[in-house]
Amino acid sequence: MIILGIESSCDETGFALFDPEKGIIGHIVHSQHDVHSKYGGIVPELASRDHVLKLVPLLDDLLIKTKTKLVDINLIAFTNGPGLMGPLLTGAAFAKSLSWSLNVPNIEIDHLEAHIFSAMISEKKLKPPFISLLVSGGHTILSVIKSMDTYTILGKTLDDSAGEVFDKVARHLGLPYPGGPEISKASSRVDFTTYKFPRPMIKSNDFNFSFSGLKTHVTQIINNTNLTVDMISDIAFDFQNAILDVLIHKTLRASQDFHVNNIVIVGGVSANKKLRERFVIEKKESMNIFFPDLEFSTDNGAMIAYMGWIKSKSEIKSTLHIKPVTATNII
Ligand code: KG4
Ligand code: ZN
Repeated sequence: MIILGIESSCDETGFALFDPEKGIIGHIVHSQHDVHSKYGGIVPELASRDHVLKLVPLLDDLLIKTKTKLVDINLIAFTNGPGLMGPLLTGAAFAKSLSWSLNVPNIEIDHLEAHIFSAMISEKKLKPPFISLLVSGGHTILSVIKSMDTYTILGKTLDDSAGEVFDKVARHLGLPYPGGPEISKASSRVDFTTYKFPRPMIKSNDFNFSFSGLKTHVTQIINNTNLTVDMISDIAFDFQNAILDVLIHKTLRASQDFHVNNIVIVGGVSANKKLRERFVIEKKESMNIFFPDLEFSTDNGAMIAYMGWIKSKSEIKSTLHIKPVTATNII
């Protein structure tokens, strides 16, 4: 059985082929960073148009690379939300048309669920229960994943997501979009700074987050500073640490309070090098930390294809319901 996964919820066009016996046979991702970087955020209409241009050639490339024919595909899994309406529609229309023309079923995949289980693609022994920290451009959600279809959300951001504030602060620092990798790069140039930004809600008893106050605080400092390369690194260093302090503290506390030792960190921000290092260093001995492969942290088709397989064991639906959200890191 071969499952084709299609991801187009935001600014990445991704395809992957998954074989339950062999795993991911191949995957391909096209990032629209060049399209959006001069605007400092995602322009939805440009995103839709770029998906339309890239869908066919990218799938062709993947089929050639993996020596697979269209007729070898048995199931098509595609992201149906949350995400941007236009980009979601392009992927859904493509998936539905291909499914109809190949006469194979298609299945709708929730983008957040796909992120949550993305670490299981390579960590074959990883199974629920686990604590999940999903940190992406659109979401920051801490939950207990009790089984493949039973989740309890412990907390989420009350305002901006972690990825979104990385992107916005980077923009104020004059760094290109996406800001997360740029802040990470800038902060790696120093190992000390005199800046000490607030750690929002780190002492609150709940598992919610709030990052917009930190964003405003840092932005005001940036606006009152004559930025030099050294200062950009100094600000990036403590800004990144402020976010990581809160994420790590609350996630490890959730593991302790709910007696769930496996912790899985997913979504674009989980690609952050310092975050990966610090989680492993700061965890308690009884805890186990898991991440997706680096290439599956940010949006990709592999997690959609994998989730297609998981879902296909219980249901194959073929309706067209897409679930857009108003993402806040768009302009
Ligand atoms: O999961 P993702 O690709 O898309 C959404 O579902 O939102 O996440 C994108 C987010 C962006 O905000 C980007 O700046 C952030 O992930 N990101 C990072 C890093 N790489 C990507 N944030 C911090 N450090 C990174 N290395
Ligand atoms: Zn995502």
